[in-house]
Amino acid sequence: MSNLAKIPFLDLVTPHKELEAELLAVVKKAFSNAGFIGGPMVEEFEKEFAAFCGAKYCVGVNSGTDALRFAFMAAGVKPGDIIVTVPHTFTATTETISQAGAQIAFVDIHEQTYTMDPEKLRQYLETKCEFDTQTGTLTERASKHRVAGIVPVHLYGQTADMDPILDLAAKYNLFVIEDACQAHGAQYFSKKDNTWKLAGSMGQAAAFSFYPGKNLGACGEAGAITTNDETAAARMRMIRDHGQAKKYYHDIEGYNGRLDSIQAGWLSVKLRHLAKWNESRRALAHRYHKLLAEVKDAALLPLEADWTKGVYHLYVIRVQDREALQAYLAEMGIGSGIHYPIPLHLQMAYQHLNYKKGDFPVTERIAVEIVSLPMYPQLTTAEQDEVAAKVREFAAAKISVAR
Ligand SMILES: Cc1ncc(COP(=O)(O)O)c(C=O)c1O
Repeated sequence: MSNLAKIPFLDLVTPHKELEAELLAVVKKAFSNAGFIGGPMVEEFEKEFAAFCGAKYCVGVNSGTDALRFAFMAAGVKPGDIIVTVPHTFTATTETISQAGAQIAFVDIHEQTYTMDPEKLRQYLETKCEFDTQTGTLTERASKHRVAGIVPVHLYGQTADMDPILDLAAKYNLFVIEDACQAHGAQYFSKKDNTWKLAGSMGQAAAFSFYPGKNLGACGEAGAITTNDETAAARMRMIRDHGQAKKYYHDIEGYNGRLDSIQAGWLSVKLRHLAKWNESRRALAHRYHKLLAEVKDAALLPLEADWTKGVYHLYVIRVQDREALQAYLAEMGIGSGIHYPIPLHLQMAYQHLNYKKGDFPVTERIAVEIVSLPMYPQLTTAEQDEVAAKVREFAAAKISVAR
């Protein structure tokens, strides 16, 4: 064991110490008027976050999971409808599809970007489904179920390649709901519109998580939906609050999925720092690229496609002997993570979908190779040098060539 200072995978203590006075002021404000649910702090945050994402509306909710579920419900998903997404994501993307009464269909990710491969999506829509031009309905041939929507996941802080996904959605009358839970502030260059667009502004709606470790994290559970659709926003507001727009008048059944006022106040404080924090993450990522350039035969570094400006929620490399690298880093006092080790189509929870090993080879290949290195705005360059040195050391000594 070396005597190095411990470098955690994620440091959530330092940013809260730095902002302690501002964060405590929010609590005092809430205590002074006992407005703990809804109210001005929630409305203010919703306005600020909508503006940050370049969207017209934001609906604050209890988690990213709620955000996804409510977005599907507001999109009018009917029992048995199919929603297409990727198997390389956190399970909330898919459990909410089931919870909204829909069925999951997977398409594989792209080998280099780790996000939905638009070509695989096209193949699924065009070879496994048929489109009725009379009714404008796309139906999966095998199950005879209607395909209702697509959920691209902006994983690790990089957007999916949205132009072709949105084109396919428009062609087949499908909604697109962005899973932007890891991508607060990420940008996408739309060649079609010749402009940069923000995550959360491109689909019919987008789901964000403010789980504490996210780029914008609450001090507890929180999430939000962004949308440009006023009617959908009103519906999501009802769904998060027991289906009521007016107290005790329940037009539909909903949930208790509201955003706490104190969390909203804390998120407003942190939102003022988010652009700067995202820039720090980008600078650190570019530093990692340079520091690890010499081991690129042994460790595949993340690719930032020319159509995305990533916000590096995670910095994920690929190596052949992932467990050994993690063990070596741990021995050196350095934290790391795996996002995610088991592809969703091979999880026990999804046995009933009858997918099998080999169905999504890209996802399966990368799931055994990926390692997330320490990445957060407060990571110092000295700490990062240390992490990179240890990865280089390991690569020189042990890593068999990745590809
Ligand atoms: C890609 C993705 N989707 C959905 C979620 C769910 O968000 P939450 O944990 O806030 O419910 C997360 C958060 O972990 C996520 O990373």
